[in-house]
Amino acid sequence: MKKTDKLVQLLNSHIEDKDILEVACGGAEFSISASTMAKSVSCIDLDDSRLNELINHTDIKFQIMDASKMDYPDDSFDTIVIYNAFYHIQSQWEDIARECSRVLRKDGKICIASTWKLDIGLMKEYFGNDVKWEDEFLIVMM
Ligand SMILES: C[S@@+](CC[C@H](N)C(=O)[O-])C[C@H]1O[C@@H](n2cnc3c(N)ncnc32)[C@H](O)[C@@H]1O
Repeated sequence: MKKTDKLVQLLNSHIEDKDILEVACGGAEFSISASTMAKSVSCIDLDDSRLNELINHTDIKFQIMDASKMDYPDDSFDTIVIYNAFYHIQSQWEDIARECSRVLRKDGKICIASTWKLDIGLMKEYFGNDVKWEDEFLIVMM
């Protein structure tokens, strides 16, 4: 089973029939996995150089967009996922976190999940006891 399929299973209650946004999606593997269960999936990155062409066969809405200045209206998503990308966005985290909170619905969740060594250390440093291991993923829900 693909890692991202496993993560979607773990996050099932936050994915099934929900409007999902993946931030800093890179290849968008998480979005592709989530699209089998979610109501809708949107994903953004600063560029499309890594984007998996499989996305063309799905309903996923990919956009080139800076996560620290999103174009989405307030209260657009039920769940926002940042997968294997925390290290790459850490210097912008304050702005990205503010934007994520703005576009998230009232009872929504932001999920940062990673299997990457570089992310793991940083996530522990930033989020302390709020991080937890689920299978091979270090996860923080906020
Ligand atoms: C490690 S890579 C991709 C990780 C991706 N989730 C994956 O699994 O393939 C991190 C990504 O963060 C993106 N990124 C960095 N800053 C960003 C920002 N402000 N807005 C959107 N994407 C950003 C980079 O362009 C890069 O594609």
